[in-house]
Amino acid sequence: MVYINPPYDRSEVGLKRRQTDLSRHLSAEARARLPNPIKTIWKVAQVKPGTINMGNGDPHHTLYPVCEMNFVVPSIDDVNPVQAWKDGTGEQQIIASYKDEPCALSLRTALAYGAGGGLKYVRDTLADLNDRIHAPPNHSVSLSLGNADALTKCFRLFGDPGDAFLCEEFTFSAMTNAALPLGITWVPIRMDKDGLIPSDMERVLSNWDEVTQGRRPHVLYTIPCSQNPTGSTLPAERRRQIYEIAREWDIIILEDDPYFFLQYDLNTQTTTLESYGFARAMAEVLPRSFLSMDYDGRVVRLDSFSKILAPGMRLGWVTCNDFFTEKLDMLTDSSSQHPHGLGQAFISELLGSQGWGIDGFMKWVSSLCREYERRRNLFMDVFRREVEVTGLASAETPKSGMFVWIKIDLERHARYRKIESPEYPGGPVSNTAELMNELFRKLLDCGLVMMPASTFAMPDLTRRRSDDGNISDRVNYFRATFVGTDEVIENGLKIFSRGLEEFFCF
Ligand SMILES: Cc1ncc(COP(=O)(O)O)c(C=O)c1O
Repeated sequence: MVYINPPYDRSEVGLKRRQTDLSRHLSAEARARLPNPIKTIWKVAQVKPGTINMGNGDPHHTLYPVCEMNFVVPSIDDVNPVQAWKDGTGEQQIIASYKDEPCALSLRTALAYGAGGGLKYVRDTLADLNDRIHAPPNHSVSLSLGNADALTKCFRLFGDPGDAFLCEEFTFSAMTNAALPLGITWVPIRMDKDGLIPSDMERVLSNWDEVTQGRRPHVLYTIPCSQNPTGSTLPAERRRQIYEIAREWDIIILEDDPYFFLQYDLNTQTTTLESYGFARAMAEVLPRSFLSMDYDGRVVRLDSFSKILAPGMRLGWVTCNDFFTEKLDMLTDSSSQHPHGLGQAFISELLGSQGWGIDGFMKWVSSLCREYERRRNLFMDVFRREVEVTGLASAETPKSGMFVWIKIDLERHARYRKIESPEYPGGPVSNTAELMNELFRKLLDCGLVMMPASTFAMPDLTRRRSDDGNISDRVNYFRATFVGTDEVIENGLKIFSRGLEEFFCF
């Protein structure tokens, strides 16, 4: 890989990635897995040009019932392409994939069987994007069907029954639930408004007793930007501390970062963007990822096109060391096989020289940030005007992503009560969960859905420390999103305010 505009000085971490033996992290399943033998021979046949392959059952490209695909996309020549596209005032551009004419990725290749990690052209393009943004030493790229697919594969790659993995105390339960049938349990780490608290991670690891609690956690699952559900973004110093703790305790970091590109209040002048090029200018202001500081190969970074192009794309990319990449690809080769060729063809043309190119893609991303930032600002303005004035709820302004974490001041409710003697040591000491459930139903009756914090709460099944409090006493939050239209934001928050006041009988 060539490093183009590496944004960070790697001399501070000592030139190159170290050769750390990471094999102890593999699950029994990953160790037992054999390569798909047919793919192995197929790969050999790809290496030598002109080899006649009579071995594989691949339909011949002359029999594919398609020869051309056209995609109408916004032109990124506009100063603010997202705004222009939304208003219908912007220019359009047609990008095309062909089977028999030159293009970035021929449909002959895109629609044929391929290797589990995806087509080389697409992987190289995304490695180039990675290099410009994160400049990771010695990592390789493998395609996924988005971060949900990548995560479930990672759980299988690293998790054995009885393992405990670390996660944020409120997290994306759609994914943590996927680990449970594998026999993995979750150990929540305390959070504050800036996300995961490094000292609590250190505390959990150093207090871990392998005799009574089993194997010490060797994986951290974290969502560093616009943490789902809390909307927090880990500050740079915390990331550095977490990485150091991960090194100290030999932890693999699963960096699930679908909101990474959606950052607000960035200090990029249009002139800087134009003169530096968007990729370089954005790289300098985007948060420093765990991947960018990973010099001993313990970060597995998951990116997705879901939040920056469209969720139905079902395409993402995993970036990690070559050893883990090979194991992930083996899993894919013997299960879903590589991601769909149509999506790979689209991405190739979009990011290729006849489409937006990588710089143009980053221009789109930068313009998307401006639009979501406007929606976030509108949400917060309406929130202050309609909701905060009631004195019943408050929220921090998120720096990235799509979520606002709304705190309900339940202690002001007439029926809020403290429980003198909890049911068990460390059990709930208030009726917070009960009241929040009532409030959720009340809002539903008023015609509004917000995600209650209990949906994302990770009870501590392993520690049972009474001095830690019970997460049920901390579920007085809702996750709301500001991605909707102005009308949805206005109407939704008005309903929320009215529902709150009725619930508190004001
Ligand atoms: C934190 C997090 N991880 C993963 C996903 C799934 O993303 P994808 O659509 O790429 O599978 C989401 C989607 O909302 C998410 O918020």
